Amino acid sequence: MCGIIGYIGNQQATPFLLEGLRRLEYRGYDSSGFAIRNGEVSVFKRIGKVSDLEAMIPKRIEGMCGIAHTRWATHGGVTDANAHPHCSSDGKIALVHNGIIENARSLRNRLEKEGVKLLSETDSEVLVHLIHREVKNGAKPLTAVRRTLKRARGTWGVCIIFEEHDMIICARNGSPLVIGLGDGENWIASDTLPLQTLTQQVIRLDDGDLAVVTSEGVQTSRLDGRFTDSEVTTLDDDWGEAELGEFPHFMLKEIYEQPEALRQCLTGRLALSDGNARLGGFDFSSKKLQKIPHVRLLGCGTALHAAQVGRLLIEELARVPALAHVSSEFRHNNPVIETDAIHFAVSQSGETADTLAAVKEIQLKGGEVRGVINVVGSTIARQCGKGCYIHSGPEQSVASTKAFSNMVAALSMFAIQIGRARTLSREKGKRLTKSLQKVPQLVDDYLSNPGPIHEVVSAVKDAKSVLFLGRGISAPVAREGALKLMEIAYIPCLAYPAGEMKHGPIALLEEDSPVIVIAPNDSLKDKTVSSIQECRARGAKIILIHEEGDPIAEESDISIPVPSTDPMFSPMLTVLPLQLIAYYTALVLDKDVDRPRNLAKSVTVE
Ligand code: M6R
Repeated sequence: MCGIIGYIGNQQATPFLLEGLRRLEYRGYDSSGFAIRNGEVSVFKRIGKVSDLEAMIPKRIEGMCGIAHTRWATHGGVTDANAHPHCSSDGKIALVHNGIIENARSLRNRLEKEGVKLLSETDSEVLVHLIHREVKNGAKPLTAVRRTLKRARGTWGVCIIFEEHDMIICARNGSPLVIGLGDGENWIASDTLPLQTLTQQVIRLDDGDLAVVTSEGVQTSRLDGRFTDSEVTTLDDDWGEAELGEFPHFMLKEIYEQPEALRQCLTGRLALSDGNARLGGFDFSSKKLQKIPHVRLLGCGTALHAAQVGRLLIEELARVPALAHVSSEFRHNNPVIETDAIHFAVSQSGETADTLAAVKEIQLKGGEVRGVINVVGSTIARQCGKGCYIHSGPEQSVASTKAFSNMVAALSMFAIQIGRARTLSREKGKRLTKSLQKVPQLVDDYLSNPGPIHEVVSAVKDAKSVLFLGRGISAPVAREGALKLMEIAYIPCLAYPAGEMKHGPIALLEEDSPVIVIAPNDSLKDKTVSSIQECRARGAKIILIHEEGDPIAEESDISIPVPSTDPMFSPMLTVLPLQLIAYYTALVLDKDVDRPRNLAKSVTVE
C-alpha cells in the first residue's frame, strides 16, 4: 500500500528518494511522486512505475531535502493529479500522506467556500491547504501542522516540506513512520525496508507523535504540544538486504527460502527431550494455559489460512475450543471477549489495518492479544506488547509464501506447548517435536524435486475456474492454494472442504475441469477419495497432492507427491506445490508475479 520516504542532510536527496521508492515498490502502488526543496519546492508525480517517474525528473536536480511517495488509490482514481505530493496553492508547501482522512469531505467543503482551489480528488490534499492557511496566519510550521492534524479525523503518516524552512515535519496516527538516524543526515520512511542499507539507528513514531526532522537532529512532540524524548532502537540487522540474487522474482526466491526460514523459526524453541516447545515471548504460565476457556486467532488472507490451520492443531492437541476469525469482520460483530481467553493476531507485515483494529477491539474489552508476526517492531507487534516473531525474513512478493509456513510452524509449536500444559502426553509430545524438527529438511527435499508442476500449469492456465478441495487440516491449505492462484494469475478459484463440494460447487464441473485435491495421509483420506470419485464421474481432471508412495496416486490424472510427515504438519508440505502452481501459471500467462494488479503487500486501510 502507499509508501513514504524522506531525506534531509548533507548529500543530494534525489538518489535516496528514488532508491527508497524502489524499495517501497513491493508494497503495491499505482502512482508515485517526489518533491524536492531547491530554492523552491519542485514537484514531479505521475501514474505508473517508479521508473516512469524517474524518467520525468531532470537529471541534474539539486536539493538536500525532499519527500517521495508511492500511492495505492483509495479516495479518487489513479490519475497524475491524485498522486502525491500535494501542494499548497502558492506551491511553497508539499505533503505526502498515508492513511485516510475521514472528515475530508467537510474540510474540503469549508476550504472551497473560502476560495481554495483543490486540484485532486484525494482526502489527503485538504491537509496541505489547512497547513498553508495556518502558516499564512503567522503560525510556525510545527504549530501549523499540529493545528491541522487536530482538526483531522482518521489515520495518517504524513511528511511535509516547506520552501522557507530547512526541515521535514512528519506525524503518525495509525500509519507507521520510522525515522532513520544518520550523521548530519536523517531519513523518514513508512517501513524499515528502505532504511536497512542506510542506518541501523531508528526512532519509531507512536500514534499521536509529531517530529521535526533536520539534518542535525529530531525533535518529537505530541499532538497536545508536549515535547517528548524519543527512544532510539537498533534495527534487527539479520534481515539484511532483500535482493533477488539468481531468482527472476521475489515470489520464487521466497518459496525456495522456506527451508531456511522454517529453521530460523524452530531453532531454540523445540524442547525435544521434554516433548515440548517454548515460545517465551508469549509469556504464558502453565497455570494460565490449563485454565483458559478458549483460543481465538485473527488474520486476513494468507495469515487467516495459517490461523485456520493453527486453530485445528490447538483444538486437536490441547482439547480446548479454538476459533479463527476474519479480522475485517471481527470488530464489527460486537464480539464477546472473555478476559481469560487467549487471542492471537497473526500477520506477516504487522501493519494490516483490519487485524490491528481487531486487536484494539479485544484490548478495549479487557482481553489480551499476543502477536504472531514477522516484521519486528511493526505496529501490531507493538500494540500487542507480547508475542512471537515467526522469523521468515523479509517477504517482498505480494503473494505471501514463506510467511504462511512459518506462521503454521509457530502455531504448531504453540499447539504442542498448550497441549503439554493440558492433556498431551510427554511421549506424544516427543514424537511431535521430533517430526516438526524434520520439516525444514522435508521442504528442502520437495523443492529440489517438485514433480510435474508444468503439467498442472497446462491444465489450469486456460480454465474458466479451478476448484480446490481438502478436508480437515487440508481445507485451509486448499483455500491458500486458491488465493495464491487467483491473486497472481487472475483465474477465478473456489476452495471448499471436500465434503461440501457435493452441496453446490459440483455444478461447475464439466469435461476436463481442473480440480486440485489435497489429500495427505490422514484419517480423512478415504473420505476425500469419495469426493475425488464424485468429481471424476463428472469428467473433472484430478490434480492430486498426496504423500509420497501412497497408492491414492492412482485416483489422479496428475499426481504430485510430497514427503511424508506427521499429518498434523502436512500443511507446510502440501502448500508448496500450490505455491509453485500459482507462480508458474502466472508466469506462463505473462502476469506481474511479484506485483499483481490492484493488490498491496501491507493493507494499511480498513
Ligand atoms: O501482512 P499480513 O499477513 O497481515 O497480510 C494479510 C493479507 O493481506 C495477505 O496475506 C494477503 O492476502 C496476501 N496477498 C496473500 O498472498
